[in-house]
Amino acid sequence: MNRWCGKVAFVTGASAGIGAAIAAKLVEDGLQVVGVARRLDKLQELASKLQNFPGKFHPLQADVTAEEDIIKAFEWVRGHLGTVHVLVNNAGIAKPASLIDGPSEIFRKILDTNVLALTITTKEALKLMRENGDEGHVIHVNSVAGHRVTDVPLMNVYFASKHAVTALAETLRLDLRREGSKIRVTEFSDMFNKVLNDNWQAIFNYVKSGYESFFTEITVSLAGKFFDKVPLSEMLDNVE
Ligand SMILES: NC(=O)c1ccc[n+]([C@@H]2O[C@H](COP(=O)([O-])OP(=O)(O)OC[C@H]3O[C@@H](n4cnc5c(N)ncnc54)[C@H](OP(=O)(O)O)[C@@H]3O)[C@@H](O)[C@H]2O)c1
Repeated sequence: MNRWCGKVAFVTGASAGIGAAIAAKLVEDGLQVVGVARRLDKLQELASKLQNFPGKFHPLQADVTAEEDIIKAFEWVRGHLGTVHVLVNNAGIAKPASLIDGPSEIFRKILDTNVLALTITTKEALKLMRENGDEGHVIHVNSVAGHRVTDVPLMNVYFASKHAVTALAETLRLDLRREGSKIRVTEFSDMFNKVLNDNWQAIFNYVKSGYESFFTEITVSLAGKFFDKVPLSEMLDNVE
């Protein structure tokens, strides 16, 4: 992990769940982590918890669905930290809404957050990475929903958004490879497979009964364990 010590990571959705767990792990491993989310108080809370680790957590308020917020955040990075070495596109929402008769504002919100925001943060991060020796690592936090459709009600647009993430990761990887770039692209999804399979009936009941914070609950119980077992640093180290 030494080679990443002191490097700069930009993590979206760092105020809670998986994003907060990733940010904390990277700060523990000595990275300068810019954590972005709408709830500044949560980001600040995390910053104070991470004060005694080798790296540093920089809380930055931004709504990733607002392009000007993303651009401002990357300007801050350029001005204060110079560049970005690792982008973790984690911010995502999984609001239930039926394609048959659900509200189109929710469709739009899911696509804005899970897909469009990710394309813009990626583009802005790539600008800095390319100026900095064409090196870096783009990581999308995806989902099993990005690879196969299962019989979960009200998840039409969420599933579609995560399939888009798979396509965006793979097409970018091919583009960068074609150019001979040293920037690497990863999307990860599989960590929750076992949980989903083992808890299928409970999950289904939960979804039927209103669901809202299901992902957050699973995350709270799992994210810490997952990132302890398979540290992100190991994943980064294994990329040539
Ligand atoms: N948890 C799971 O079981 C699971 C499974 C598969 C995939 N995933 C994926 O993992 C990622 C994280 O999920 P999670 O369960 O950790 O979610 P979570 O606990 O609900 O946290 C979501 C994070 O995204 C941020 N966010 C949401 N909308 C935002 C916006 N417009 N601008 C800035 N930040 C925004 C939230 O911060 P603010 O509210 O403060 O803005 C929060 O920090 C998502 O992409 C999700 O699809 C999760």
